Order: sequence, then C-alpha cells, then structure tokens
Amino acid sequence: MESMGILRRTHMCGQLSKANIEENVILMGWVQSERNLGGIHFVDLRDVTGFVQVVFDENTPKDVLEKSELLHQEYVIAVKGIVRMRESVNPNIPTGEIEVLANELKILDTASTPPIYIKDDDNVSESMRLKYRYLDLRKPFMQKNLILRSKLAKVVRDFLYENNFIEVETPMLTKPTPEGARDYLVPSRVNPGKFYALPQSPQLMKQLLMVSGFDRYFQIVKCFRDEDLRANRQPEFTQIDMEMSFVDIDDVIEVNERLLYKIFKEFKNIDIELPIKRISYKEAMERYGVDKPDLRFGFEIVDITDKVHDSSFKVFSDNIKNGGKVKGININGYSEKFTRKDIQNLEEYCKTFGAKGLAWIKITDEGITSPISKFLTSEELQNVISSFKAKKGDLILIVADKESIVYDSLGNLRNEIARRLNIIDENEFSFVWVVDFPLFEFNDEENRYVAKHHPFTHPMDEDIDLLETNPEKVRAKAYDIVINGDEIGGGSIRINNSDLQKKMFKALGFSEEEAYDKFGFLLEAFKYGTPPHGGIAYGFDRLAMLLTNSSNIRDVIAFPKTQSATCLLTNAPTVVSNDQLKEVHIKVEVENE
Ligand code: AMO
Ligand code: AMP
Repeated sequence: MESMGILRRTHMCGQLSKANIEENVILMGWVQSERNLGGIHFVDLRDVTGFVQVVFDENTPKDVLEKSELLHQEYVIAVKGIVRMRESVNPNIPTGEIEVLANELKILDTASTPPIYIKDDDNVSESMRLKYRYLDLRKPFMQKNLILRSKLAKVVRDFLYENNFIEVETPMLTKPTPEGARDYLVPSRVNPGKFYALPQSPQLMKQLLMVSGFDRYFQIVKCFRDEDLRANRQPEFTQIDMEMSFVDIDDVIEVNERLLYKIFKEFKNIDIELPIKRISYKEAMERYGVDKPDLRFGFEIVDITDKVHDSSFKVFSDNIKNGGKVKGININGYSEKFTRKDIQNLEEYCKTFGAKGLAWIKITDEGITSPISKFLTSEELQNVISSFKAKKGDLILIVADKESIVYDSLGNLRNEIARRLNIIDENEFSFVWVVDFPLFEFNDEENRYVAKHHPFTHPMDEDIDLLETNPEKVRAKAYDIVINGDEIGGGSIRINNSDLQKKMFKALGFSEEEAYDKFGFLLEAFKYGTPPHGGIAYGFDRLAMLLTNSSNIRDVIAFPKTQSATCLLTNAPTVVSNDQLKEVHIKVEVENE
C-alpha cells in the first residue's frame, strides 16, 4: 500500500461547497461508490462529514485515471484535485452543486467486498449488523446517531458544570446496589469465594458523596442490570446520574426542567413549556393504565364497574363479585378501521398481559355490533355506551379482571392501538412528571411489602404517620420524568434521619441486622451528619433514542448486546479456560458445547 507521502488532508468531503470553487483540495476517505463510464470515472468519496463526487476524466493525468480504475467500494484513498461546478446539479445532497476533478490519487488501503451495504436502507438482518458493527457504524444514520449522542453528553456536562455540579467517578467493582434487578458478579482472585457486583446504579455512592459535603454530584456512568431485555433495555446502559444536597422535590425538578429545556432547545429546537405538567401515579394508572403515560393521544380508560355489577353478563358481574374491575377504552372515530379479525388480534394482544378476553362494542351506520350485546339488556348496553360517551364511528374495548390486569392490558392496548393506527406525530413531544408514587408495593411471592423504588426513598411528610398503620397508603417523594410514554428518568428525595429509616426497614420487614448486612456502610455514614438530599438518574441511551427518533436502543449504542445479552462482534460471553477459572476459585457445572 502507498504511504500518504506528502499528502495532508486539507478539507472534509461533506463540507465542500460553491465557496471552494477553483480551490486545490486534498481529501481522504472511503470509496462509497464508483461509476466508470469509459474514459470518465466518478467516485463518491465518504468521510465522517458526508460525501462528495470526485471525477477522473480526460483532464486527469493518464496514470492517475488508470489507477482510478483499480478502485472498489470501501477502498481508502487520498485524492488531490480542484473543486469545480457540477454539470448536473444533485439537489438531494449537500455537496450536490460541486465536484472535485482529481489530479493525484493514492490508494491507502484496499478493501474486501463488505458483507453488508454501507447505506442507511440496507435491509440486512440485525445480527449481521451487530456482527459487522464497525461497518454498520459507517452508515450515515449510525454516524449521525453517535455524533448526536456525543454532543448530548457535552450539552448535559456544560449545563451541570454551570449549575455547580461536580463530576465524581464511582467504582465499578462494588457491592450489590438496591435497584431490584439481578447483579452481574465478578469473582475476586485474591479473596477466594467472594464476589464484587457491578453497580446497577451509583445510588449508594452518590448518597455518600452528599454525606461528604460535595453538595451537587453528577456522572455520566455505565450501569449493569441482569434483567429481561426489551426494546429499550440493555444489560449495560448509561445513566446521567445526579444528586443534590439541601433540596426537596421542587428543587430537583426545577434544575432538571431547565436541563430538559436546554436539551430539547438544542437538539429539537423545541421550547418546552415550563413548568412541566405533573400527574400523580394514581391518576396516571386510572386514566392511562400505566405509570408512564403517552399523552399525545386520547383513548383514556373509563371505569364502568359501577354500571355493570348486576349485569346478566356473568363475565362482568362475577368478576366484580370477586373483587375485580370492569374498565375500557373508546377508540373514538376509528371503528371502521377494525375488522372482527383485527379485534380478535387485539384480544390476543391483551391475553399476553393476562386478560381473559376483550369485550367490544362497535357503533356503525348499520347500528351496534357486539359479541356481548346478547348478554346485556338494551338499557344496560345504552348505559355502557353512554359511560364511554360513545357515538357513531366509535369502538369500545372492555376488560374485566383484577385491577392490575385490567390496567396492564388496557394501558398497553391503548399504546398499541395508537401505534397501529399511526396517529402519533413523531415530531410531537409530550413531557410529564409522574409523582406521588406509592412508597411500597405488595410482593405476593414474598408476602410482604417491598420498596417500590429503594429503601432509602423518603415518604411524603404528611404520610409518615401511616408508615406503621397503613403502609399501602404511604406516598413516596419520588418522581419519574416521562416523555412520549417512556420512562426517561426517575429519582427521589432520600431519608436522612435514622429514626425514619428504622421505621422504613420495619415496614419492609427487615430486621436492623439484615439492613446493616446489606447497606451497613451507608447507615453507618448517616450517623455522622447527613444533609437532606435527593436526586435523579436519566436513561442516557433512552434520551438519545428520543432525540434521534430511534425505536431501537441499539441504534444509539456503538457496541450493544442482543436480546440474549450477547455481543455478536466479540462473541462475549465466552467459555474461559480451566486455569483461569481455577485462579478465581470457580467451578463451572454446565456442559459447554
Ligand atoms: P432507575 O432504576 O429508575 O433509577 O434508572 C434510571 C433510568 O435509567 C434508565 N434505565 C435503563 N436504560 C436502559 N436499559 C436498562 N436496562 C435500564 N434500566 C434503567 C431508565 C430509568 O428511568 N438510582 C436511581 C436513580 C435515583 O433514584 O436517583 C435509578 O437507578 O430511563
Ligand atoms: P364468551 O361468552 O366467553 O365467548 O365471551 C364473550 C365475549 O366476552 C368475547 O368477546 C370475549 O372476548 C369477552 N370476554 C371474555 N372474558 C372477558 C373478560 N374477562 N373481560 C372482557 N371481555 C371478556
């Protein structure tokens, strides 16, 4: 291969314009594509800024023209030439008005034919994209995504520095943290039989930094959670994590609203209306069935339990007798869009959330169709229809079940239908703080209350008295920021008083010893003067997804993992040698094929 010799890059491909006409330029990059029209050879040359057309023609020295015939896709070259106007302007690309007439060419490296096309709409399987990630990352949209991600980190950092936050790194080899997922464990060679856990978040460390008096901490930090993966989850992901001293809910929310304002102004040119709306967890569940509602469309949940408790339709009345609820949504104006088969399909969808069925009422020009109308008196039917304020053109969908199943199925169904109807404007962003979460949730398996966030979350001051009597009624000083139906961040004010902390452990059914065993170092630290403090963490990858309009978290991560937590590029995780295992005192019992 040729060395670059005396050629030094003078310009970037995507930045050339009419302003450079007549200039001599030296460009370096990859051959995106080439067309040889016999005696005239066009090459699209690509670098991180975009691409430009390079021409080798009768004005090019003969040896250079000949050498250009050797070029293939993805060869790495240096070209010297002069910028001129194009004969046929291409308005679809930024450099479409100009081209570079080459007079020198160096081939810096050849390339095998790539196994995937280097273009955005290469419809190759995601596993091929992940296996050849370094090629996939050459695609313009992936470059754009990662460049935006980098700028996002800078905007966040700049804002937090301006607001007196200090960046502190916290350990990756640590003790289990209380975020509720499974830990990734790392064996210790020098401490046989003992393990570090990779942090699920820096939660306890950032609280210790408040005890240390740093006042405001932040970190853009990797977190590790061994949990079931979905479209917007990765086993290792990044948080923008922060903690502040001498604050209550409104102080944390105020700084974060300014941060969100800055981010959305910078990247979307949107002026978020401040203050951002807040809704209580209870209201979110009642109206939307989920604690992360998408407010960009209606179809709100209506409770008809009271209207149908004596119904002759046993599915409704029996469910209510057993403590269940009957609720539904009105897909107003869209009844024509759903055939019987489509509705059957929606029923199957609801069943994945535990629903036993999906009752429906369709109101069309021809009248009312419904598989349950035969079970209801006409008065009952009218009553149900008027509860939903339904009119011609509407479709009512109803689930009768335990309240949690009703919410889960209708909440997800509501989102799914909006997606299927394609009624969500991609350029609209809806922001909402979900507040007043319950402090505890009852865990049926363990038959006890568990902390909904973590055991250091502060109860609402006015609910503290209920800790011992009605724990299920206690609300937490916790808040989630929800954007377009996704939980983008969440946090809380923490307990900084040992009496209250003791009450909390008691309500959770831990003895003080158990609490000390898990979090003793934090409780010990709290003895020495702890400021009131609280914070929040954002899913940085999720924020990057929103800002790049990505529906796949992997499209904003350079080297992500698959749904089964593997890396197709490196083949991690892998089998390790017996010697290595022995060193860390581990015996493996599974047979590896
Ligand atoms: P939480 O567990 O809510 O809070 O996490 C904060 C945010 O991180 C994102 N997130 C994830 N993103 C991608 N993949 C995952 N597996 C994943 N899990 C979570 C979400 C979530 O809102 N220590 C507390 C914060 C605090 O109380 O200050 C915490 O970690 O967007
Ligand atoms: P069936 O008589 O069981 O065929 O039910 C009649 C209709 O009621 C069907 O459309 C079912 O999908 C619906 N259905 C059955 N169980 C439920 C339920 N728990 N909630 C809502 N609809 C139901």
